[in-house]
Amino acid sequence: MDGFVNVETLDAEDSDAMRRFEYYINGDPDSLGIAKSFGLRPHHTLHEFGVGFLRTAQHFINYLDAGNFSGNDASNARIEFGSEYFRRKMAFDAKRPKLIANTDNSFDWMDGCKVDYFWSLAVFTHMPPEDIEETFNNMRKILKPNAVVLFTYSERAVDRNIERYNVKDWWHNFAFYAELAERYGFEIEDVSEAMPESVHINAATRLVKMRWRGEGSAS
Ligand SMILES: C[S@@+](CC[C@H](N)C(=O)[O-])C[C@H]1O[C@@H](n2cnc3c(N)ncnc32)[C@H](O)[C@@H]1O
Repeated sequence: MDGFVNVETLDAEDSDAMRRFEYYINGDPDSLGIAKSFGLRPHHTLHEFGVGFLRTAQHFINYLDAGNFSGNDASNARIEFGSEYFRRKMAFDAKRPKLIANTDNSFDWMDGCKVDYFWSLAVFTHMPPEDIEETFNNMRKILKPNAVVLFTYSERAVDRNIERYNVKDWWHNFAFYAELAERYGFEIEDVSEAMPESVHINAATRLVKMRWRGEGSAS
């Protein structure tokens, strides 16, 4: 996962590489708009699962009250690079984002902190089904009752629950997530119509909203 990060070797003459870099760093002002349309306000706490280079996180960090944003990523290099970059662009440290490089999906690295919102963009698509299940199970450790969970996934094979596309990409359908939601005590809704064009990674991108029913609600 760290491989993407080598900005020292980024060639400004290579327009494809530059476009990709700018997309990862500057793109996606609309994710914040989506979360706001589902009730996010500055006093809420939000955790982003899979922050990458902080492409979306930068907007949440800017909007939320200081100390209210946390995020994790499997790539420490992405977090480090993004933090360094945004330190030069905004009042990054004053907002006290809590950023964690994680090596497991336990959520124990959150030290018991609990949040009102959980956000994840284009991450489950890169995880095998058993890791997604582990994440659904363990994310509950950091959710307040009634917390809102928003995430995207890729649905290309609508009639098949799981399909491995290549070494790091999986396609799931809504039924796959609905079954996990039921098992772990979440209400689930396909809210893809709330997603502006700009947030679509591709035509198969879907947006899901879940609400955690709270302790003792799993089937
Ligand atoms: C396609 S990128 C999306 C990054 C960011 N959400 C964005 O939209 O720019 C997927 C990210 O998920 C991270 N990732 C994959 N599996 C993960 C896991 N189990 N826990 C945390 N991060 C993970 C990768 O390191 C990568 O940064």
